[in-house]
Amino acid sequence: MRRFSSKLLNWYAENKRTLPWRGHRSPYAVWVSEIMLQQTRVETVIPYFKKWMKLFPNVRVLARSSEQDVLNAWEGLGYYSRVRNFHKAAKIVIEKYGGKLPNDVVELRKLPGIGRYTAGALASIVFGMDEPALDGNLKRVYARLFDVEAPVNSTEGERLLWEIAHENLPKGKAADFNQALMDLGAMVCLPKNPRCEVCPLTKECKAKKRGVQHLRPVKTVKKSVPHYVHVAVVVVERIGRGASPNGDNSLYVLLAKRPARGLLAGMWEFPNARVAGDPAEALAPALETAYRLTVRKKRGIQNPLAIVEHAYSHFSVVVHAFLCESAPKKTSAALRWIRLKDLEKYPMGKIDRTIAQKIINDSRF
Ligand code: ADE
Repeated sequence: MRRFSSKLLNWYAENKRTLPWRGHRSPYAVWVSEIMLQQTRVETVIPYFKKWMKLFPNVRVLARSSEQDVLNAWEGLGYYSRVRNFHKAAKIVIEKYGGKLPNDVVELRKLPGIGRYTAGALASIVFGMDEPALDGNLKRVYARLFDVEAPVNSTEGERLLWEIAHENLPKGKAADFNQALMDLGAMVCLPKNPRCEVCPLTKECKAKKRGVQHLRPVKTVKKSVPHYVHVAVVVVERIGRGASPNGDNSLYVLLAKRPARGLLAGMWEFPNARVAGDPAEALAPALETAYRLTVRKKRGIQNPLAIVEHAYSHFSVVVHAFLCESAPKKTSAALRWIRLKDLEKYPMGKIDRTIAQKIINDSRF
């Protein structure tokens, strides 16, 4: 074994983080953790992981759960295609592999949501196979250790880093070795201020030797992301008065279901539309066009109920949400009146959940 591998493994034995999925030997638990960790930090994932394992303790339970329940448990973690793919993959594992995760990288990669990194992580952590697993953090660690000058997000950089990772994997130790690199990346080899003074590999680090650790990894410059302005309407009405389909008198709020494909697919939101210019003025015509929904701002209310900003990976958006009244009329099939007290049951992205929370905390309702 190379010197740097044994140093790293010794460091890991002393310093590894206690993480809930590390105690689990069930392949499913590791799978859950790896999907959650794909674009999300460990500290954020921990409570979601614990809740998830209570709600869906094994792949069979997950496979037969409804999409709504699965999306609800994921709400707040973002990047929802991860959970939809995971749900699909769970069904495939039941149908095609008798409920057992395949112990084969090629088969693993055929499952929705399992790419090169996740297949390597599962193969090594679950099955102890000699497979590297390179995510953004590990690429940074390797780019520094081997002073890789090719941009990590270029084809050349990617190829080189996987090659280095394969060459340096200590045989039979991949589970600990990969996780040691993950912990080193999270606690020591930090993106901005690497803590070289406490790093077990400081003597082996080529970037450190050349004093360029702050300049690694090299990244190609990203294009700037577009920014959009949306208006959303919060229509809360007592549609009951005996005339409602349910014949009750409770408060209802109008929600729209997003299309089954694309961003936040199948989740719920306040009816909204992209606008140019003054949101307050653009509101009514924009909603008319988007949903054939006729609204006017609630009398006496000029200011938005909420202004919420959010950055997705490829664009950012600010949503101006207004309290409105609607005119009863046939509208888009995507719209649905739901009981105000049921708002929490409907899976939503961060923006709409923030607006929903405002309504729930608003003493007027
Ligand atoms: N990030 C992704 N997988 C991880 C793991 N198993 N341990 C720590 N960090 C991780």
